Amino acid sequence: MAGLEPIETASRDEIAALQRQRIAWTLRHAYTNVPHYRRTFDAAGVHPDDFRSLEDLAKFPFTTKHDLRAQYPFGMFAVPREQVIRIHASSGTTGKPTVVGYTRNDLEVWAQVVARSIYASGGRPGMVLHNAYGYGLFTGGLGLHDGAARLGCSVVPVSGGMTERQVQLINDFRPDIITVTPSYMLAILDEFRRQGLEPRDSSLQIGIFGAEPWTNAMRREIETGFALDAVDIYGLSEVMGPGIANECIEGKDGPHVWEDHFYPEVINPDTGRVLGEGEHGELVFTSLTKEAMPVIRYRTRDLSRLLPGTARTMRRMEKITGRSDDMLIVRGVNLFPSQIEEQLLKSSVLSGHYQLVLTREGRMDEVAVHVEARSGYFDPVLLEAEAKLAGARIKDTIGLTTRVVAEAPGTIERSVGKAKRVLDRRGIG
Ligand code: DLL
Repeated sequence: MAGLEPIETASRDEIAALQRQRIAWTLRHAYTNVPHYRRTFDAAGVHPDDFRSLEDLAKFPFTTKHDLRAQYPFGMFAVPREQVIRIHASSGTTGKPTVVGYTRNDLEVWAQVVARSIYASGGRPGMVLHNAYGYGLFTGGLGLHDGAARLGCSVVPVSGGMTERQVQLINDFRPDIITVTPSYMLAILDEFRRQGLEPRDSSLQIGIFGAEPWTNAMRREIETGFALDAVDIYGLSEVMGPGIANECIEGKDGPHVWEDHFYPEVINPDTGRVLGEGEHGELVFTSLTKEAMPVIRYRTRDLSRLLPGTARTMRRMEKITGRSDDMLIVRGVNLFPSQIEEQLLKSSVLSGHYQLVLTREGRMDEVAVHVEARSGYFDPVLLEAEAKLAGARIKDTIGLTTRVVAEAPGTIERSVGKAKRVLDRRGIG
């Protein structure tokens, strides 16, 4: 594969026509083959025949994570189980995992959109790609793997963890591209320095980061640390996995949604009303070509907005700053961890390794922001002064009083995949 696919430069009319045709097929496929959809469509008084224009999609009921859990394990499959040749599952912190299935054709499409994503990120056939997303039930590892192989990269399937070895392999194999969560990339950055290596001298030119929220401040941090281009990849297992949307390296202006396979909507999360382009709300996706597990109007809980296309005709989604599930309400103030991240990274002494600890003193919620100093900074007086400054920045911009604690490098627990940014201890003691 080389160059852009024709659909990436198609006109909006062509894209819309394809979407209309594919949504009609998907609605019929889901209604005919998945009892859950037949029930919910019937209950809402809608039938696939009622879909004539893209606006008609709003008549159809949403699908939630709860719906998928209720059909555990294989109740959402729309094809006989024998045609499902891959199963993934998203861990979920409580209860049963959410199971997703793929036919051979679904895996083909997935590899194609991930190959397209890597290409949009600046990746080219022949490049070496170090894949540090976790392999296994998580869709990150195998999803990136198949797409990179499709594009024609030499894939190094490292998976997450063993940070020392990650650095060794990067030094020895000289990859052009790394695919990993942004928080784990910071851990790799630290490991370079711990080994006395200069990360800017590494072979890496492109990083494709996703699976968790990360700010533009974090982008700058990684780009300057490694002298590479950091590009955002978005996706979720329920809809496919990584590669639902990807930034283009030309703009780095929010991921382009691969609208020929996934139809995006943004809704008001409280009322369910569909919002117009540019309005902030919850992202909802309908799959357009999925055979094994079509999803109709899946509520992602991810907060963003739709924006017009730039480097491609397909629309963009604004870089995600948080999920509605991650929104903390502290003393009446809405707070996303990413807002804290942005303020912390304004300091030249504090790093992007941080965790928020929520406690309750009497009836008051307290937020402590634990943040590590960058490597080389240990002086307690300096750390305390920087913590104070960061606290003031948070108060000024977010309006919330927090207790910022700057700690020595290496003290905050590292995750090898998605970082755990919040420890909520309000219910304890
Ligand atoms: O995280 C798929 C993935 C793997 C995406 C590798 C990108 C790279 P899940 O484990 O099902 O799937 O988690 C999906 O992660 O609803 C978002 O809340 C969050 N997320 C994924 N990508 C981004 C991103 C994978 N680029 C959930 N920015 C989604 C912010 C992201 N959040």
